[in-house]
Formats: sequence, structure tokens, C-alpha cells
Amino acid sequence: MTQSVFRDGLLAGKVAFITGGSSGINLGIAEAFVKAGAHVTINGRNVEKLEAAVKGLQAHGSARGVAADVRQYDAMAQALQGTRDAHGEIDILVCGAAGNFPAPAVGMSSNAFRSVMEIDVLGTFNTCRAAFEHLRKPGASVINISAPQAYLPMALQAHVCAAKAGVDMLTRTLAIEWGGAGVRVNSIVPGPIDDTEGMRRLAPGDDVREKLIGSLPLGRFGTKQDIAQLALFLVSDAATYVTGSLMVCDGGQSLLGSGLMLRAMGV
Ligand code: HXC
Repeated sequence: MTQSVFRDGLLAGKVAFITGGSSGINLGIAEAFVKAGAHVTINGRNVEKLEAAVKGLQAHGSARGVAADVRQYDAMAQALQGTRDAHGEIDILVCGAAGNFPAPAVGMSSNAFRSVMEIDVLGTFNTCRAAFEHLRKPGASVINISAPQAYLPMALQAHVCAAKAGVDMLTRTLAIEWGGAGVRVNSIVPGPIDDTEGMRRLAPGDDVREKLIGSLPLGRFGTKQDIAQLALFLVSDAATYVTGSLMVCDGGQSLLGSGLMLRAMGV
């Protein structure tokens, strides 16, 4: 990652909890937060991946990991309590755990649809709900990770479209309910971000990748740093009047609808 445009120590002493934090966009956010001085707890299901990610983060600062499935409320409540015990009230919550695979609606079982709905929507609800009592009030900030599928219908993504629309409505509803307590809640809507599991699944192979890049208004895939910089802005004092926002960071992709992405995928 290249240098952050934010000042050193931006998040010094702040406490952050990030679900889905052992890979991809969420790990990029975790790294930026650790480098900015925060105590970061990352959460994931796979213990080996989690431990490897924590080790990498600890090279830059304060990081710990806690294994739990966002679909299990009690496990998340315990993970969040443990974070508070370790570091104190939580200043920043990032709900990034998400499921995805490309499949037509008739090609997925009811259980497949439910898996993504539960990881994305129920997992975001569980984490936010269990975190609320541990959040620093006033002053805490929540970021939910969404996707353009939340507002762009996309073939092969019925589960993700339904789930991310739900995530964004949770963001907007919680922003209303928690505003009085001084807790801000926003979504980040990442487009095609390089070197992520989501893009490996949705745009596999050089051919699809090149076609997709050619269709993007900014002519390149996003980077994990693009998303991390937006996350730093949202949790910083520069954004104290920003809540309930769906912050799109997609190089202009969603301006053009989902057709270009699907054509690149050969659908
Ligand atoms: C059809 C599939 C499938 C596929 C899994 N299933 N993959 N069905 N096509 N390709 C079905 C399984 O057969 C099973 O149904 C059900 O899904 C649950 O699978 P399990 O492996 O038992 O469950 P689980 O571990 O709970 O979840 C599976 C998973 C998850 C949802 C696929 O492992 C996952 O998504 N991993 C990828 C994580 C990821 O890429 N995250 C980034 C998301 S990016 P049956 O009926 O057989 O029991 C993103 C935004 C991208 O969301 C935006 C880009 C612009």
C-alpha cells in the first residue's frame, strides 16, 4: 500500500472491530486503521486465515483476531465483549463479512440463497446489535460494506442484490435510530476492487478482466487502498456530519448499469 493521505496518528488509541477482516477490502481497511494508530480486532470464520492476517497487521501496530461466525448472535456478542475487555469502548465498527458466488436463481438452492442473506444481512444486524452497548457514545462510527448490487439488478446475483439492498436499508435505519446517541452509520459501496475474492469469483480470467477494465469510466480496477482511504475519511473528524450515506467508490461503474459487467462476464 502506498502512503495514506491522512495525517499520522489519525486514529491513535481508537478501538476498531472489523468483520470479515482477514482478507480483501476489509483487511485493507484493517491495515490502514492499524497504521493510523488504532487497536484493531479482526473477525473471521477461518482460524488459520485469521491468524495469518493478524500476524501481518501486527507488523504495523496493535491487532488481534477473534474467530466467530457473524450468523451466530451469541458468538458475536462474546467477540465484541472480549474486544471491549481488551481495549475499552469501541469507536469504529466495520461490518464487512459477505458471501458471494455467481449463479442463476434456478441454479441455487434455497439454502444457498439463505447462506448469503444470513452472512450479509443477519450478520450485519447481529454485529451492529451486539456492538451497540459497547460503542463509545457519542462519537462512534459504523461502516457497513455494501455493493452496487444493492441498487443495480444483476443477473447471477439475485442473492447478493437482495442481501446488499438489505444491508443498505439497515445502514439508513440505524443512522436514524442511533443518531441521537451520537453514533454515525454509513455504507461504503465498493465497485470492482483488484485482488479480492469477490472479483476472482465475478471476473475470473484475463479476458473478462480486460473487458471489464475497458468498460469502466476511470479505466482501472479500484485498489484496496481506495476503499481504505474512504473508510479513514468516514471514521475521521472530517465526517462528523455524515450519517446514513451510501458512499459509492466504484470508478463510475454503476453509472452505466450492470449490463457492461455482465457482458464482460459473457452473460
Ligand atoms: C450454487 C452454491 C455455490 C455456487 C455455494 N453454494 N457455492 N450454489 N453455486 N457457486 C451453495 C452450497 O451448495 C450450499 O447449498 C450453500 O450455498 C451453502 O454453502 P456452504 O458452503 O455450506 O455454506 P457457507 O460456508 O455458509 O457459505 C458458502 C458461501 C461462502 C456463501 C459460498 O463460502 C462464500 O461466499 N464465500 C466467499 C466469500 C466472498 O467471496 N466474499 C466476498 C464477497 S464480495 P446446499 O443446498 O448445497 O446446502 C461481494 C461484493 C462483490 O459480496 C461486488 C463486486 C462488484
